[in-house]
Amino acid sequence: MADLSSPSLHLPAVDPAVNEVQLTSLSSRPRRLRRTPALRAMVRETQLHANDFIYPLFVAHGQQVRHPIGSMPGVAQLSVDEAVVEAERCAELGIRSVLLFGLPAHKDPVGLENFADDGIVQQATRAIKDAVPEMVVVTDVCLCEYTDHGHCGLLNFGNGNLPHPNLDEGYVLNDETLVVLNKVALSHAYAGADIIAPSGMMDGMVASLRHALDIHDFSHLPIMSYAVKYASSFYGPFREAADGAPKFGDRKTHQMDPANVREALREAALDVQEGADFLMVKPALAYLDVIQRLRQQFSELPLAAYNVSGEYAMVKAASAQGWIDERSTVLEILTGIKRAGADLIITYHAQDAARWLQD
Ligand code: PBG
Repeated sequence: MADLSSPSLHLPAVDPAVNEVQLTSLSSRPRRLRRTPALRAMVRETQLHANDFIYPLFVAHGQQVRHPIGSMPGVAQLSVDEAVVEAERCAELGIRSVLLFGLPAHKDPVGLENFADDGIVQQATRAIKDAVPEMVVVTDVCLCEYTDHGHCGLLNFGNGNLPHPNLDEGYVLNDETLVVLNKVALSHAYAGADIIAPSGMMDGMVASLRHALDIHDFSHLPIMSYAVKYASSFYGPFREAADGAPKFGDRKTHQMDPANVREALREAALDVQEGADFLMVKPALAYLDVIQRLRQQFSELPLAAYNVSGEYAMVKAASAQGWIDERSTVLEILTGIKRAGADLIITYHAQDAARWLQD
């Protein structure tokens, strides 16, 4: 205890009355509950578990391939055998679910491998379900990684003769795209996927997939809709990882404007109406208010948040410089996303975080 009367503190001479602190009315002292680690743990409102995490995997053709992604240290494009290794690792860490993205052997305007029975995601799904049957395999359903133009849907292109003359050339066509998404989702279902996760932000996407699944006897298969997905700069590293950058233009005619939250509620309401089983907000960090609003408005549905590639890359870059501490920063970020209202967090940090939570 510092001796307040010690001259070494160089306290200026003051009126002695100043030393008589009157705190009789201070019955609330929040610091009482922060005094020891055990007390702090007892009153902790938000608890992270490995069970909260979904771990994304980028699956590529080949064998024993681990092709690192420069902008996402610790993340790699994996061949199916290596993806199985990662799924096994997840299971050991208590992570229940992986989310698959595919890198096709060839790209074309439609993205034919996307719905091929022996497509890369279909192969990976079978292999993971074989090796780790309890692993919940979620498959991303979109076109951008499979199309040569890198867009999330079929485009208004023709040989000088636009199929939709009233729309711009290169516009992502909605209803035509839904037909392809139906095929993709069904091929994932036949491969054994546990959850279908459409990420393309097409109108009517959930209704269309629900119907397609139902009439093929997959009425038991849940849809995790990327209900609220913003046209975000934070997807940059992912587009390297999944080789899915648009070759021209951007995604602003279908992904949402970052400025909008009322529109997010409208998107979510439509997906609920169309039969979505989970809702998702993406990205997470610049959209914590959106997560909170969805949590309140659609409290009956499980809510996922996607802690996206750019958010991951920023933490990795700053911690590599020694500017922040990776472990505590990651756990703080994930706790914040959960506190905002997410039940599930899709995150590239999942394995590290699960390991840290075990310590
Ligand atoms: C598109 C898709 C994207 C991401 C997931 N699915 C990229 C995009 O919309 O351009 C981004 C995920 C991330 O950044 O981690 N199918």
